[in-house]
Amino acid sequence: MINRWRSAREGSEEDTEDGARQDPRSAALDLSRRKLLQRSVAVAAVAAPAGVLVARNLGQATAAHAGAGIAAAARPSLGERASLAPLAVAQAFQQIQQHENDHVTFIKGALGSKARPKPTFKGIEQPSMAAFENTSRVLENTGVGAYLLGASIIKDKNILLKAATILTVEARHAGWINVLLNQPISPFGSFDQQLSQAEVVNRASPFIASLNGGPDPSAAPQNDNDVLNFALLLEFLEAEFYNVNVPKFFGGGTPGNG
Ligand SMILES: [Fe+2]
Ligand SMILES: [Fe+2]
Repeated sequence: MINRWRSAREGSEEDTEDGARQDPRSAALDLSRRKLLQRSVAVAAVAAPAGVLVARNLGQATAAHAGAGIAAAARPSLGERASLAPLAVAQAFQQIQQHENDHVTFIKGALGSKARPKPTFKGIEQPSMAAFENTSRVLENTGVGAYLLGASIIKDKNILLKAATILTVEARHAGWINVLLNQPISPFGSFDQQLSQAEVVNRASPFIASLNGGPDPSAAPQNDNDVLNFALLLEFLEAEFYNVNVPKFFGGGTPGNG
């Protein structure tokens, strides 16, 4: 699993989260397309309206047509990145960045003095848009599985409900990036699956340089606060990931997270 994580971080073709592989030719095309998209975002004055699905084959597939079914010839093949309006992509990632910072602030507030300190991270800055998107996909899908794990442990119903409000947003993040990378919205189909604690730790560990005195995420949680602190570690990581990379690839500022 660590290898999967590292592959995703490096923008490798071996994106094996659900066994799919990307055609090298498609990857090369994507890289060219992404460079073009980045330039387009930089000159937002010519950006298309947010949320508009840009047809791969202009004149054949539009957002309106998509509802009725895009012609097979216009569909990207599995593993090929979807082609969306650059501004829509930028805005989605900027929203996700804000959400992650809000999650940090919320969980820190809920834990008060028991909140773990922010870890020191490493390897956060991504070398390419492809690496950024692939790592985002792993992070977001990990978040969904981790919150499902937490939901199975949390005892206090009020805390569970608050965690659920974050879980559903993480699932939106995951669904978005899964679709952007032309993967199934839900990697497990109709029912999500929780991850094991060890699995979550394995995926997060390559990014953690120091816990700065915070609790060991591998330790078995003893109470709801332990679960929240486990979630806070992931939220710190996600917030850092987007705070570093969203401005790099899309511009914009860095939201504070308390
Ligand atoms: Fe989050
Ligand atoms: Fe997220």
